[in-house]
Amino acid sequence: MKSTAMRVLLALAFAAGCDQCNEEEETAETEGESESDAAPPVEPLVAPEVDMDKVYLGRRLYHDPILSGDGTVSCATCHTLDHGGAEDRATSAGIGEAVGPINSPTVLNAHFNFVQFWDGRAADLEEQAAGPVENPIEMGGSFTDVVPKIAADEWYAERFAAVYGEDDPVTKENITNAIAEYERYLVTPGRWDEFLNGDESALNEQEQRGWATFQEVGCTTCHQGVNLGGTMYMKMGLVQNYFEMRGGEITEADLGRFNVTENEDDRHKFKVPTLRNITLTPPYFHDGTQTDLREVVRIMAQVQLGKELEDGQIGDIVAFLGALEGELPAEARLPEDETPPDRTSAADGENVVEHPETGETADEVLEEGGE
Ligand code: HEC
Ligand code: HEC
Repeated sequence: MKSTAMRVLLALAFAAGCDQCNEEEETAETEGESESDAAPPVEPLVAPEVDMDKVYLGRRLYHDPILSGDGTVSCATCHTLDHGGAEDRATSAGIGEAVGPINSPTVLNAHFNFVQFWDGRAADLEEQAAGPVENPIEMGGSFTDVVPKIAADEWYAERFAAVYGEDDPVTKENITNAIAEYERYLVTPGRWDEFLNGDESALNEQEQRGWATFQEVGCTTCHQGVNLGGTMYMKMGLVQNYFEMRGGEITEADLGRFNVTENEDDRHKFKVPTLRNITLTPPYFHDGTQTDLREVVRIMAQVQLGKELEDGQIGDIVAFLGALEGELPAEARLPEDETPPDRTSAADGENVVEHPETGETADEVLEEGGE
């Protein structure tokens, strides 16, 4: 998928930039034109094949604060399944309530994105999963500490060996691979996909009107592909300066892709985010400044397309966006009996004293006594 998107972009760039093309370039131009004239590609979601044993392993890791430096934060802290795989705050708070610079995107259907992170600094889910563990304001851990902790845990030791073989099964690579496999399982087909597969009744009249408007006004120029997003980088504020309108200081996070390439053309460019499950994942935008989806749609039309939408059009588009909610796969949630134990006491190791009968720690006993 990645290479297809790249080719389309290259072809478009070619088409825009060459007047006297030779034959080879003309082919590129024709391809570019036919790509942009044709209805932008939208495809129904097809779940990738996954290895369920890896998924179960990754599912527990994803919910386990064992991955963080102080045993308090897991992936699920900032990517909550009950919040559409994203987070109910403007920008993330990690260990010690350290506040991050940017809004957490959804992990649901992230597999389909051509790169990961708002600025695309990770090529795939494996590479992405290594990031938060060692990020000082997200999980603040390090694999040097995390690997032996996981290897010493009976539940993990057994399953890692079963899935990755007896020979050194608990490694950074295998940990991130299991988490990524779980994320590949987190795809959410819904009514939208039934509609694309030919069942027109899957969307009601207003939603269908919204889909038509979404295409007519030009949202699909950027929000396209199986995720209605995740196929390209685009400038936030393509036709009108978003940051002036928003006000406030320009943060480093606002620079987007520029932070990776230091190329002027990439200033304020972001990976176009998926719109699947968008109604479940406020607040919106990389800066988490918007909570009202109607307002988001209005701003998008204004700063990306230079259009003022009517209230009716906005209502229809928002109704359509609601139809992009999907179903979590059957085994997405961690079963009760796999809930990880308290990792904060495990973090400071030997000096935790447990009550011989109740298993309570000294701290817990003291806390109860104090109430
Ligand atoms: C402290 C909060 C926090 C924790 C913990 C956290 N994340 Fe994230 N995650 C974020 C934020 C914020 C971003 C966006 C960062 C950026 O783009 O610069 C992000 C981005 C992502 C993305 C990219 C999605 C996309 O569309 O680009 C994926 C996938 C992801 N996280 C998975 C994970 C996994 C797996 C873990 C556990 C190993 C994890 N996250 C832990 C906050 C968090
Ligand atoms: C020129 C490309 C482009 C066009 C056209 C465009 N968008 Fe966007 N859209 C983006 C980018 C880039 C972002 C991320 C911006 C940010 O977070 O700063 C985004 C963000 C969004 C978000 C918020 C997603 C999130 O997770 O926070 C929604 C909703 C959205 N767009 C809907 C629309 C609608 C509806 C239209 C048509 C009226 C539209 N967009 C047109 C590029 C575009």
